[in-house]
Amino acid sequence: MKCFNGILSAVALTAILVGCAQVPPAPQVQKYKDGELPLPAEYKSWPKFLSDIQRADNKQVREIYINPIGHSTKMGDSFPNGTISVMEIYKAREAADGSPLKGPDGKFVKGELLKIAVMGKGAGWGETVTPPELKNGDWIYAMYMADGKTKAPDDTATCRACHLPLKDKDYIFRYDEYFQKRG
Ligand code: HEC
Repeated sequence: MKCFNGILSAVALTAILVGCAQVPPAPQVQKYKDGELPLPAEYKSWPKFLSDIQRADNKQVREIYINPIGHSTKMGDSFPNGTISVMEIYKAREAADGSPLKGPDGKFVKGELLKIAVMGKGAGWGETVTPPELKNGDWIYAMYMADGKTKAPDDTATCRACHLPLKDKDYIFRYDEYFQKRG
């Protein structure tokens, strides 16, 4: 334990002992509301949920990650509390005529990162959602700009309304595709 390594002066020791006595108890699991869930700094090291999603309708490419808790889910089950899903939204690069540029693999070429969407689930997180018809179980939503810190102007009611019909898939759009590809 780092509180007691090496030789310490009386003053330093007192300071450290006071510091040790003030170590807070184990952290409570925080409840988050829409817009509050921070983007986990390490999300790029998580398992991939789906890669290179081609969105011809809005000329975007999307990358979805899921944290290890979510990745442990079995097909047919709901994702457990503690699951976090992160989706990077990239602009597809455009050719001179404005059409999306395609690479040798026939896929859109990823351009600038536009935004980063986060969805997370925890016990009771959905309780305060208003109106209650927009409750998506205990999922809550947040959208950030490309820096991962600045909140995007999106209204989280729109997230809820669009994901709501996916109730049978735990509100996750590409639920079936994920489990089929993951095996
Ligand atoms: C108009 C419908 C629509 C709206 C509005 C919407 N989403 Fe989604 N969302 C989707 C679709 C469709 C996918 C699957 C990926 C794809 O096809 O682009 C998705 C996927 C996701 C994922 C990855 C997990 C999954 O369900 O596959 C996250 C995270 C996410 N959305 C967060 C948000 C957040 C946060 C907002 C609001 C700021 C939001 N979404 C608003 C349609 C929507």
